[in-house]
Amino acid sequence: MVSTQLQKARDFEAQYGPHIPAAERPAFHATPTIGWMNDPNGFSFYQGKCHLFYQYHPYSNEWGPMHWGHLTTEDFIHWERLPVALAPDQPCDAGGCFSGSAVELPDGRQLLMYTGVQQERDEEGVLRDIQTQCVAIGDGLNYEKYALNPVLDKDNLPEGGSAADFRDPKVWQEADGTYYAVIGNRAADDSGAVLLYQSADGLKWDYVRTLDACHNQYGKMWECPDFFPLDGRQVLVTSPQEMYPIGLEFHAGNNAMCLIGNYDSKSMEFHRQTVQAMDYGLDFYAPQTLLAPDGRRIMIAWMQNWSTAGAKPAHCRWFGQMTLPRELVLRDGRLCQRPVRELEACRGERILHQNIPVCGEVNLPGVQGRVVDMTVTIRPTGGEGYRWFRIHVAKDGTHDTIIRYKPNESTLKIDRTRSGLPHDIVHTRSFLVRPQKGELKLRIILDRFSVEVFVNDGEQAASSVIYTRQEADAITFEADGQALIDVEKYDLMV
Ligand code: FRU
Repeated sequence: MVSTQLQKARDFEAQYGPHIPAAERPAFHATPTIGWMNDPNGFSFYQGKCHLFYQYHPYSNEWGPMHWGHLTTEDFIHWERLPVALAPDQPCDAGGCFSGSAVELPDGRQLLMYTGVQQERDEEGVLRDIQTQCVAIGDGLNYEKYALNPVLDKDNLPEGGSAADFRDPKVWQEADGTYYAVIGNRAADDSGAVLLYQSADGLKWDYVRTLDACHNQYGKMWECPDFFPLDGRQVLVTSPQEMYPIGLEFHAGNNAMCLIGNYDSKSMEFHRQTVQAMDYGLDFYAPQTLLAPDGRRIMIAWMQNWSTAGAKPAHCRWFGQMTLPRELVLRDGRLCQRPVRELEACRGERILHQNIPVCGEVNLPGVQGRVVDMTVTIRPTGGEGYRWFRIHVAKDGTHDTIIRYKPNESTLKIDRTRSGLPHDIVHTRSFLVRPQKGELKLRIILDRFSVEVFVNDGEQAASSVIYTRQEADAITFEADGQALIDVEKYDLMV
C-alpha cells in the first residue's frame, strides 16, 4: 500500500525532478532526483541490477524528514531513477527513515533494513530521538513496511547502550543462510560502538556482541558501519563524528575510517590490527559496500561532509552527490580503492604526453575539460628538482582547484579555495603520500562538480566537490623548480 506521505513525495519528484537539465548535474555521479541527498543506503545487487537507495529530502535542498530515494544502474556509471522507496509514515519512523541496507530473501523479495526515528520527551522535557531498527519488504520498486516493526529496539541493546544513538544497520547473509547486521551505537562511555546482530529470517533479530568500540579514541558516535571480508582479512568501516585530528591521517570533525583485522566467524570475534582513513579529501562520508556477482567489493560514499554541507550554491535544485563507485582491494595490508573499471569503457580519444619537462606553468595540447579521466606521473628531472608541483584544474582567469605535491614533505594538498564556493569553510586538506622511487602517480577524475584523486594506483583517494562554472575548463601544470611529467588524458563520454 502506498501511504499518503509516500505518494506525495513520489508526485513531487515526478513533477519537479525532470525540470533539472542534465547539464546542471554531474555526468556520471549519482544525484538526488530533486532536493537533498545524504548517505548511500541499500547498495546491493537485486534481480540483475545494482540498486542504490539514498537518504533523501525531496522538498528542499536542506536535510529534512528522511525518505529513501531510489536509483538503479547496470554499470555504476549510468543511473536510472525510480520512485521514492520509503517515506516516514509509521509511528516508529515518523521522525525519519534513516540509513540502512538491503538483502535478498529466499523467496526472491528484497528486504530493506533501516533506522526508524521517533521523538520523545525526556525527564526534563527535552525532545530527543529514539532510534529503532525497522524492515520493509518489496519487489525492487514498492516496499511494504513490516507490521511488527520495529524489529530491534532499546531492549536489544547491551548495557549502557544509547537508544537515541542506535542506527544504520548494514545487513548481509552468510552461506548457511543466517542473516547478520552491524549497527552503530553510542556506548556507556559516551563514544561509538559497532554491535553485531543475527537473524534466521531477517525479521526476528538477536543481539550477539559488540564487535569493536571507540573508547573515545577515534571520535565519538560511530555512524554507518559496514563489515566484510577482503583478500583474506576482515574490514570494519565506520564514520565517526567529532573526530580529533591524528597527524595528517584523520582531520577534525566527520571522518570515515576502516579497521582492518581478523574475524573468527565461529566465535564472532573481530580483532583489529590497523586503522586507516578511507579518503583524504574534503568530502567523503558514510561509505557503504556491496559484493558484486563477479566477486568485486565495491564501495560508494556520500561525497559531502556534514561540517560543510550547509555551503551550497544559492537556489540549487539538487544537493548532495555520491562518489564514483570504487573497487576495494588490500595491498600490503592497506585498503586501496580504484574507480570501477566500467569507467574505462567511457573513455574517448587518448591524449598522451610523455617526458614533458615542467618549469613554471604550462598547458599541454588536448588537455582540458571538466568530464575527464587523467593520469599524471610526476618525477624529478635529475637536475635541481622542484620544491612543489601543482596541477590546476577547473581553471579560468579567476578560478582553479589545485592539487599540490611537495616532495620534501611527501604531502599532497587539495585546495578548492577558488572553486566556486562563496563560503568561508574548510577549503584545503593535506595528507602524506608514498612516492615510489621519487615518482608520484595521480589519477584525477573530474565530473563537472567534483574532483577525485587516486594516488599510486589507488593507495589513497581524496574526494572534493567544487561548484566552479563549467566554462572554467583549463588544466595546467606548474613546478617551482624542474619536474618531469607524463600525462595520459581522456574525455569521458557518458
Ligand atoms: C550519517 C547519518 C546517519 C543517519 C543519517 C540521517 O550521515 O547521520 O547516521 O542514519 O545520516 O540522515
